[in-house]
Amino acid sequence: MYNLLKGKRGIIFGALDENSIAWKTAERVHEEGGKFVLTNAPIAMRMGQIKQLAEKTGSEIIPADATNMEDLQNLVTKAMEILGGKLDFVLHSIGMSVNVRKNIPYTESNYDFTGKGWDVSALSFHKVCQVLYKNDAMNEWGSIVALTYMAAQRTFPDYNDMADNKAYLESIARSFGYFFGKDKKVRVNTISQSPTPTTAGQGVKGFDGFISYAEKMSPLGNATAQDCADYTVSLFSDLTRKVTMQNLFHDGGFSNTGVSQEVIERFS
Ligand SMILES: NC(=O)c1ccc[n+]([C@@H]2O[C@H](COP(=O)([O-])OP(=O)(O)OC[C@H]3O[C@@H](n4cnc5c(N)ncnc54)[C@H](O)[C@@H]3O)[C@@H](O)[C@H]2O)c1
Repeated sequence: MYNLLKGKRGIIFGALDENSIAWKTAERVHEEGGKFVLTNAPIAMRMGQIKQLAEKTGSEIIPADATNMEDLQNLVTKAMEILGGKLDFVLHSIGMSVNVRKNIPYTESNYDFTGKGWDVSALSFHKVCQVLYKNDAMNEWGSIVALTYMAAQRTFPDYNDMADNKAYLESIARSFGYFFGKDKKVRVNTISQSPTPTTAGQGVKGFDGFISYAEKMSPLGNATAQDCADYTVSLFSDLTRKVTMQNLFHDGGFSNTGVSQEVIERFS
């Protein structure tokens, strides 16, 4: 390892189990010398195995519902106390759609469910940014990253209202990124990740076909959760200090591939 995050402190949202992208990222950040607080929604913590991750990485856990401003304020205050100062990195790795969970087609969206999914998956990123910003909780040249998917740019029918949530999330990274850059010299970016077999990923209808198709369409193959952890570490490090307000595709080349030889052969 390279000690890329030695002396850096942060918060990692969204480690549910060992398949979670946030789980793999926490392990990699730990290997690179970063110290952090782990957080997840109180309900997810009862189901998840986050305690094991906390023990392995010497981290404390502070429960927070990312849609609740009081929880977020408590999280940020306590994280700075525990870690002994301002933060250098934050990972927002949160997503949930009630319409997807209940198998409601996009054309029949229940708008109470749409609103709840939007709050959890998109607006929560604004809330996290706002609490960090108002508390002046980030060190200069700090880095805030959220995870997204390419359905924000191109239609994947079964991704349902998560496509709209991701488009909104990516826009927040640009808008808040402007103010965080100007006022605090802090980066804000989204990583647009390949389909990945996690609890959230497998909740999408037809996920198995979807992930095999992406694998065949990506010249380098799908990026795994482990690959995503590596990429996130690079964005938390000092090696990417001028990268901000970007949506960064991390997908083995999928997003710029029109068609691949393997896919042509299946239709020839
Ligand atoms: N898996 C994929 O195919 C894929 C692809 C691209 C992007 N992403 C994104 O990656 C991120 C992480 O998802 P994952 O695939 O690791 O799945 P995951 O199910 O392991 O993680 C999702 C997390 O969101 C948390 N969460 C839900 N509601 C919350 C709330 N109110 N407050 C706080 N946390 C809450 C869950 O507890 C869980 O830990 C999500 O933003 C997801 O959309 C996933």
